[in-house]
Amino acid sequence: MNNLISYETLFVRVAVYSVQKSYGLSPDITKQIVQELLSQLPINKSGLASHQEVVSNNIDHAMQTAISTTPKTLPPCQSSSRQLNEIVDPLYIITPTYRRPEQIAELTRMSHTLMLVKNVNWLVIEDAKVATKHVTKLLEKTGLKFVHLVAPMPEKYKLKKGAKPRGVSNRNRGLQWVRANATKGVLYFADDDNTYDIALFDEIRQTKQVSMFPVGLCTKYGLSSPVIKNGKFSGFYDGWVAGRKFPVDMAGFAVNVEFLLKRPNASMPYRAGFEEDGFLKSLAPFEPREIELLADNCTKILAWHTQTKKNEPSAPLNMTLYSSTNLVKLKQLIV
Ligand code: UGA
Ligand code: MN
Repeated sequence: MNNLISYETLFVRVAVYSVQKSYGLSPDITKQIVQELLSQLPINKSGLASHQEVVSNNIDHAMQTAISTTPKTLPPCQSSSRQLNEIVDPLYIITPTYRRPEQIAELTRMSHTLMLVKNVNWLVIEDAKVATKHVTKLLEKTGLKFVHLVAPMPEKYKLKKGAKPRGVSNRNRGLQWVRANATKGVLYFADDDNTYDIALFDEIRQTKQVSMFPVGLCTKYGLSSPVIKNGKFSGFYDGWVAGRKFPVDMAGFAVNVEFLLKRPNASMPYRAGFEEDGFLKSLAPFEPREIELLADNCTKILAWHTQTKKNEPSAPLNMTLYSSTNLVKLKQLIV
């Protein structure tokens, strides 16, 4: 079937994907441009069109994967641990992010943590219509296996007054990717501004269904954790219960991929404050008593809900004074 693809088709795809790579076009826009250009080609007006779509979808997928997941060079620590990488099941770390002054700093910090983790697949999903070029560049530099996607928050939630369902479109997009591409391993929602002890990742790797563990610096109690009495789960400690069945923090649980795949409808609701609870409830059948307790029976804090000070967007550069200086390039990195 592959030989149904004409050189012109291939040429269009390669050209558009290379622009995507250089300028950070979103995958959706890239796909649209490819389709638009292909519809102008004479070959698509022939009866080959339906076959082509099947093949082209495969090519889309193969190219996206090649672009987004293959590091050009691995840092020394990564190449030496490559063999180790292959003997442990993969971790899928879903990280929502969005354009703001702290974004690149947060992602730099987080990438340095993940560089110390074996067989990790980092799904970085931007709440944006178009992928940010500086994010793509950062990801390429890390040598990590990564997938860079966009999933903008739907307008109706953006316009809503009060608390917004932050990171939900991103996480649901991540879940969709995992369903389409993963067969085993463990999934974890890791916001870009939290702090993770590298020991956390070997802990969550053991997850058979759903595991939970304490998170520091959360809510008015400064802590969110399962409560363990006489060695057994006996409830939750969290400063904001609000009738939730699972009053836990987003950073306080991990899910086995096979367990998730058996629950095709599991997803996160667009309901501020109830995202974790809604998602965990959508994993039914699953009850609190079945939680696997990690971090030495929940006696250690391996995830911290840190929050970076919010910076105001920066004032523009005075081009009369600085147009021919290094500051022009530097300012492109600052929101
Ligand atoms: C808390 C929870 O830990 C989040 O998981 C939850 O999504 C959020 O509250 C909420 O319910 O609103 P918090 O530290 O208050 O987290 O929120 P942020 O760190 O601002 O946002 C959570 C994640 O979503 C971050 O990874 C952030 O980069 C991303 N985000 C935030 C977006 O993608 N778009 C936004 O407009 C805001
Ligand atoms: Mn946060």
